[in-house]
Amino acid sequence: MQLFLDTADISQITDRTGSGLVDGITTNPSLIAKSGADIFERIAEICAVVTGPVSAEVVATDLDGMLEEGRRLRAIADNVVVKLPLTTDGLKACRTFADEGIPTNVTLCFSLNQALLAAKAGATFVSPFVGRIDDMGGDGPGLLEAIREVYDRYGFETGILAASLRSVTHVEMAARIGCDAATLPPGIFDSLIAHPLTDSGLKAFLDDWKKTGRNGLSQG
Ligand code: E4P
Repeated sequence: MQLFLDTADISQITDRTGSGLVDGITTNPSLIAKSGADIFERIAEICAVVTGPVSAEVVATDLDGMLEEGRRLRAIADNVVVKLPLTTDGLKACRTFADEGIPTNVTLCFSLNQALLAAKAGATFVSPFVGRIDDMGGDGPGLLEAIREVYDRYGFETGILAASLRSVTHVEMAARIGCDAATLPPGIFDSLIAHPLTDSGLKAFLDDWKKTGRNGLSQG
């Protein structure tokens, strides 16, 4: 499963890209607005440090506007994925871009039927919003499972990009369900590695080693 960071904060991205564990980035208008940056400049900055997919979202709501904005975003770099809302015009734009070989991420997916339509429109990724569904008392991971089942049954190649994840448990569920990718806020990404038994185990190992009086691994 690919791991993407869900942020438009360039320092949050550069802090984490050295590990080789970050496969891509997702942004949205709220995240770009929060960063205070110009979207074209910020996406270019991100693409300069990330070689994997970088989702950049249109803000137009009509087909012509989405096509125009999507093409401008895509012109920034070869790894830009045009992010489109799951609306009728968004799916029309998705089909146009798919026919042109331009990768897309169809976002704001809250139902299996929406995911089915995104796949039929040729989306590269669909983004089910797991956390927002859970927030409403729904079953976000259940939607991921349903999409996985239907995509596999009909052989759709659209990647399931689990989005709006709120916890490390959500990430584990996305992985077990067989999502193709998950996008995580930087804080959740950092938490993936944490385990108290790793910390206490390492401390015990090093304490025992220190008692030998050895300097590093050498005998002396
Ligand atoms: C996905 O692409 C969105 O940017 C994001 O995951 C939305 O998450 P939120 O519900 O925490 O805003």
